[in-house]
Amino acid sequence: MAVIDDKLIQVVALISISRQTRRTMRKTSEIIWQDTQHQVLFDILDLVGQPDARPDMLQLLRHYTENHFAIEEAYMNELAYPGTEEHIRAHNQFREEMDKMIAENQEQDELFMQIVSRFLTEWLTRHVFGIDKRLEEFILSSKRH
Ligand SMILES: [Fe+2]
Ligand SMILES: [Fe+2]
Repeated sequence: MAVIDDKLIQVVALISISRQTRRTMRKTSEIIWQDTQHQVLFDILDLVGQPDARPDMLQLLRHYTENHFAIEEAYMNELAYPGTEEHIRAHNQFREEMDKMIAENQEQDELFMQIVSRFLTEWLTRHVFGIDKRLEEFILSSKRH
């Protein structure tokens, strides 16, 4: 389960800054923990695309994403969710995309960070309103959220 560590504390501090400027994101889930974590992920992606983005923003994004994916995967395993394999495959694809971007040798300049932010935001939007919705329904019907 989730471990509160130094990096997560940094994320929370940054989010309060981002919330002042960010567009309002529609609700992503009826499950409070899932919606809250998605909102934070979109917040971090917004921060990645800001002109004054911290150099370690991608690492913070990677860290928070891992935390969120691990929680969803723990629920899937615990509830023997039938779509587990497909869902984990989608998470792994996102993990790989992020690892590739973090490992890029090219300079992480403003344009690069904006492209990364847009690309990952689009991917995450599709995921959150697609495959995550099916998981949400299953968790809600299990009454163990
Ligand atoms: Fe999710
Ligand atoms: Fe997911």
